[in-house]
Amino acid sequence: MPEGKPWYRAVFDAELAVGFVMLSWNVPPNPPEIIGPWYLWKLIVDRRYQGRGYGRAIIAKVVEIVRAEGAETLLTSYALGPDNPGPFYQHVGFSPTGDVNIDGEIIIALKL
Ligand SMILES: CC(C)(COP(=O)(O)OP(=O)(O)OC[C@H]1O[C@@H](n2cnc3c(N)ncnc32)[C@H](O)[C@@H]1OP(=O)(O)O)[C@@H](O)C(=O)NCCC(=O)NCCS
Repeated sequence: MPEGKPWYRAVFDAELAVGFVMLSWNVPPNPPEIIGPWYLWKLIVDRRYQGRGYGRAIIAKVVEIVRAEGAETLLTSYALGPDNPGPFYQHVGFSPTGDVNIDGEIIIALKL
């Protein structure tokens, strides 16, 4: 989906690969398909290393990176269901925007 302008990185703690993150990088928004300009598209911490602060640290690093590009809001979304990451995102500062994406996922925002 190149029109989503994917930017992606493996996440390491020293030599240890702990996760993966992908953003839409300053993408022209075209809702409900394309949410932007700064959209956290994927965030995955290896199951073995969850609950150790990596997710929070990855969000903090992403915030630092996109702020340096002039971003004012970081958006993301999640699907409802068992073990959905909504409580995690709320815990690290995201709030609902009231919108949903094309898959019916709840869109949330972090003011930078
Ligand atoms: C969601 C996910 C990224 C969180 O990463 P993590 O490294 O386990 O989270 P952290 O250890 O950094 O937790 C940060 C804080 O959020 C809290 N938290 C984490 N998951 C939570 C949950 N499901 N409900 C409530 N609070 C949660 C932690 O208690 C912690 O609180 P604290 O900083 O006050 O101690 C990770 O569990 C994951 O990869 N899940 C599977 C994939 C996924 O759902 N990705 C997101 C959608 S693409």
